[in-house]
Amino acid sequence: MDIQLRREQPADYRETENLTREAFWNQYAPGCDEHYLAHILRGSPAFMPELDAVALLDGKIVGNVMHTRARIQGDDGSEYGVLALGPISVLPAYQRRGIGCQMIEYTRKLAREMGFRAIFLYGDPAYYSRQGFVAAESFGIRTAENMYAVALQGYELYPGALAGASGRYYEDEIYNVDKRASAAFDKSFPPKELISDTPNQRRFKEIVVLQRPAE
Ligand SMILES: CC(C)(COP(=O)(O)OP(=O)(O)OC[C@H]1O[C@@H](n2cnc3c(N)ncnc32)[C@H](O)[C@@H]1OP(=O)(O)O)[C@@H](O)C(=O)NCCC(=O)NCCS
Repeated sequence: MDIQLRREQPADYRETENLTREAFWNQYAPGCDEHYLAHILRGSPAFMPELDAVALLDGKIVGNVMHTRARIQGDDGSEYGVLALGPISVLPAYQRRGIGCQMIEYTRKLAREMGFRAIFLYGDPAYYSRQGFVAAESFGIRTAENMYAVALQGYELYPGALAGASGRYYEDEIYNVDKRASAAFDKSFPPKELISDTPNQRRFKEIVVLQRPAE
């Protein structure tokens, strides 16, 4: 499979948003908001256009990954600039063939060249541990609410990049999607069936609650 990777361009936006919708639809909740998130993310000051990549197969966009600027508010009073990864999507028919992995590798290399120290995300450790992410807790890093969360994972872009950077992780407010605006945006796409209470949705709910307050 000959996958091409490149930066997303304005002409790709709608196709990317549609693929994001296809990938996330009913995955974590009935429907999804990630295509709306992709749509608004590009206009955010936190957005990193250099790290907004698409994967193409025979000219068709089959994958996308986006990144934003985030920060660790260090316990020592310093602030550490890091990246937030997400959303990341691969068209369902092309999943589990290494495309997600290739997109992560590709943007990781660029992020390293740009001098970033680390990438963080909220996601399923079953997948991201295969991509080298480890629990943020292992760096002493907690959520903005000061919780150790299993879903919060980090990846150092060079050895020791997060040494001494224990603290709270803050991602951009834009990830707190306005549900009504998202629902209105979704109406510009063909209707899709909403399904609730799938095994994957239940598993996600279980992972999200795996949090405990830092002492
Ligand atoms: C998550 C996603 C981007 C991964 O992309 P992908 O191209 O399917 O992943 P890859 O093929 O690169 O996966 C690499 C490895 O992880 C495994 N894997 C893929 N998805 C997995 C999952 N959900 N849980 C556990 N392992 C998974 C693959 O089997 C593969 O392992 P292998 O090489 O040993 O077989 C894609 O499945 C997707 O779009 N999912 C829906 C949207 C989503 O959940 N995004 C992430 C939100 S945090």
